Amino acid sequence: MTILEIEAPEILDDAVPASSDDGDRALFYEYSTAADPIRPSLTPRIPYHFFPPSLYADGPSRILPLDISAELKTEGPATGPGLCANFIRIVQGDTVQAAPLATSMVFYVLKGAGRAFQGATELAFGEGDFFTLPGTQGFALTASEDAALYYVNDAPLLRYLGVAPSAARFEPTIYKAARANEELAKAAADPGAALRSRISVLLGNTAFPLTRTVTHVLWAMYGMIGPDTMQKPHRHQSIALDLIVDCAPGCYTLVGRDLDENGDIRNPVKVDWEPGCAFITPPGYWHAHFNSSDRPARLIPIQDAGLQTYLRSLDIRFA
Ligand SMILES: [Fe+2]
Repeated sequence: MTILEIEAPEILDDAVPASSDDGDRALFYEYSTAADPIRPSLTPRIPYHFFPPSLYADGPSRILPLDISAELKTEGPATGPGLCANFIRIVQGDTVQAAPLATSMVFYVLKGAGRAFQGATELAFGEGDFFTLPGTQGFALTASEDAALYYVNDAPLLRYLGVAPSAARFEPTIYKAARANEELAKAAADPGAALRSRISVLLGNTAFPLTRTVTHVLWAMYGMIGPDTMQKPHRHQSIALDLIVDCAPGCYTLVGRDLDENGDIRNPVKVDWEPGCAFITPPGYWHAHFNSSDRPARLIPIQDAGLQTYLRSLDIRFA
């Protein structure tokens, strides 16, 4: 047997041995009292929440976090345990800026036009464009005409972990509206589209071929629900922060924890859509989108499904 002689580093001389003083913070729980701490008094469930477009319809330029951190019992701002969604309003000629500690930021331009700046990157954006920025540096957005954006980052996850991003895992990337709509139209025209419960495209990046997601943490879908469509329920362990781009009256989502014997959602909560609204679909809950109007509706769910896929914990299931 070989014994390696390791020289003791100097730091050991100063080390203080753990003592019974640790009794102040070292705890033991009887198993049944701590094995499932998801309960209102400890770690609360993720609540339903609806954010109306009136939140950013007018007023001064601002980045408005959709903050429910008090309900989540987490440090804010946060829309879910790991993600923060925001509405952004930029009055023509104004600039807004932020420097969240995040790995990933995904933006969708609801209206208007302008430019985004991050480090040496500058990109022009217009209505209907998506773009992504890594979170290693702050960003600034300027508007050449009154602009409104929806924007999701993973700063709450990093805050919980107590870390800052050390490397950009992808380059800033823009997904132009014309191309996104072309790809969505292609999906709608596919001969198999009638058999599918949704017509949608998933945004990807060459940096993430294995998860097929928009960033390594975030997942973004651009989808259309056709007129007179009733979707079958599905569920996944990722949280969905849904944005409704446009819809006619009569579009809604049903959400609930269980399915009944017919495969329908038991005692569902109904979320009525309005153009430009956002809402939370909690992880693990069954949900389905409905369009009882005579016009197509478009939606953009943004989720932490890049991370959940990497962890092999997404568990997406269809009724
Ligand atoms: Fe979903």
